[in-house]
Amino acid sequence: MATETSGAKVIDGKLLAEDVVAAVKAATSDLLNTTGTKPGIAVVIVGEDPASQVYVASKGRKARECGFHSVQHTLTEDTSEADLLDLIDSLNNDPAIHGILVQLPLPKHIDEGRVIQTIVPDKDVDGFHYINVGKLGTGAVDSAFVPCTPAGSMIMIERQLGRDLSGLTAVVIGRSNIVGKPMANLLLAANATVTVAHSRTKDLPALARTADILVAAVGRPQMVKGDWIKPGATVIDVGINRIDAPEKGEGKTRLVGDVDYAEAAKVAGAITPVPGGVGPMTIAMLMANTLVAACRAAGVQIPKF
Ligand code: GUN
Repeated sequence: MATETSGAKVIDGKLLAEDVVAAVKAATSDLLNTTGTKPGIAVVIVGEDPASQVYVASKGRKARECGFHSVQHTLTEDTSEADLLDLIDSLNNDPAIHGILVQLPLPKHIDEGRVIQTIVPDKDVDGFHYINVGKLGTGAVDSAFVPCTPAGSMIMIERQLGRDLSGLTAVVIGRSNIVGKPMANLLLAANATVTVAHSRTKDLPALARTADILVAAVGRPQMVKGDWIKPGATVIDVGINRIDAPEKGEGKTRLVGDVDYAEAAKVAGAITPVPGGVGPMTIAMLMANTLVAACRAAGVQIPKF
């Protein structure tokens, strides 16, 4: 699923995500026909962060496209933690709901950690509960819910390099719980030799240049330059940053990744674009995780993505 450009192959996340979504749709209709179970997802959003609203709306749209039962709970900014925990408790006990996603960030007065740990691990399609984090960290990847962005990134890496990354070095820039740490665990589970770099790492460019697989997940626009890339490396750009684009007109903006794409594409062997790379894969993996949750609840075989 890649096209040739001047240097690197461009790994097309939109096309790959369509593949995943097509497989989810087919499996959803099988599940409904054989067991009467329709995968159900509940997305909870608290407050009015515009970016979160866009993400949540697109998750709902994709869930309906997959044939899921999809509900959105929109709570006001001043919702109390107790009310949010009550809602999660009712979703935990709702047999029509197989996946629960609470959109982050939450307002400051709510303890995110407590909220996440209240979701039952079997419905934790974000893969943020300690049980799922622990399964991934101990290599029990098949029974874990893996966070959607690293799971989608891993599929892109596998399409490029295969499932066994023995002998390859991987550098993950960023140590977040949502992307960096689970990404490192997935790469390790696939036998790569993994280094996690972050803001306190010494000589990051030199370290990045050692990587056969470079994953950038820092949230800093175009930070990774062309001369940070080992020739032929596979580069996965997780960043989605909005920057000013005066060349498009007064007040206009555009999306860029954490990688300076124009420079990196001349050196890399394969690279994900922004937009159209990891982003679409993230939503596709949320659908895949929700289907898996529904299959487990119905006691039927789990499709592999
Ligand atoms: N906010 C930004 N990314 C994510 C994500 O993957 N899951 C949730 N729940 N919130 C997010």
